[in-house]
Amino acid sequence: MERYAESVDRHYGNGEVITKIFKGFDLADKNINSLTVDDLSPVDEFHTRGKQSTLEVAELVDLKPTDHVLDVGCGLGGSARHLAEHYKCSVFGIDLTEEYISAGTKLTELVGLSDRVELRQGNALQIPYENNQFDTVWTEHVQMNIADKNGFYSELARVLKPGGHLLFHDVFLGALASPHYPVPWAEDESLSSLVTESEARMIMEGVGFKIDHWEVKVKESIEYFRKGLSLMETDGPPPLGIHLLMGLNAKEKLRNYCLNLIESRVTVALGAVRKST
Ligand SMILES: C[S@@+](CC[C@H](N)C(=O)[O-])C[C@H]1O[C@@H](n2cnc3c(N)ncnc32)[C@H](O)[C@@H]1O
Repeated sequence: MERYAESVDRHYGNGEVITKIFKGFDLADKNINSLTVDDLSPVDEFHTRGKQSTLEVAELVDLKPTDHVLDVGCGLGGSARHLAEHYKCSVFGIDLTEEYISAGTKLTELVGLSDRVELRQGNALQIPYENNQFDTVWTEHVQMNIADKNGFYSELARVLKPGGHLLFHDVFLGALASPHYPVPWAEDESLSSLVTESEARMIMEGVGFKIDHWEVKVKESIEYFRKGLSLMETDGPPPLGIHLLMGLNAKEKLRNYCLNLIESRVTVALGAVRKST
């Protein structure tokens, strides 16, 4: 477990995350004293289709200001801040990568959401919260790094209130399998643990979830990456973007991910599954 945690931390943390983001604010002419949640979204929504997919996932349930939401593998906390700002709910985020938690906490302070968003370091396989504590559990693009899917989904079910929803947005293994590496979540297959959508569904059902909504988003994701990559070719990388989190081979990772989608080596889907009462 320790070696796995170190590998995740090494893959995502680069020691310069907050410095790069602040440099990006400078280049984009953003005043750090008047930042909005939307100003951050190009860089702090580290998943396919950025803010757009977060909006779609959030609309799958009826989030209320009294709700307590847990974002598992929250990264820099972009989705958590969106939920807290838009739905006024209290959002807790955990992530293995210490550097993301400290950078994310700083970003939360800068947009004035510290009273509603709390990020802390923690492992999705041992979530540091009690049973049945959250109205909604949220996870985007995390389980690809986790081999123990049963342990992962069992933990999400454990902390969720009966009748509550797990909202997810994730990458799965496609029909052709054998993805090209590196990809945004892994330099090679040693940190990539993909299962097919049907395997994931079975595991979720096996730990007691009922599938309410499952939507494949391959077509729009390919479109999104094609547009982004072509802009990168003509104009260079934007001042703020998830490439800042992916190291020197960011473009290769994004290109491979897009190619994997095109060649049906991976798929991407979002949805809502409900814990039984
Ligand atoms: C691609 S990023 C997605 C971050 C965030 N969910 C988002 O959409 O912006 C994957 C995140 O999963 C986290 N992660 C991977 N394995 C984890 C685990 N076992 N427990 C908690 N976080 C984990 C990584 O540290 C990283 O921040």
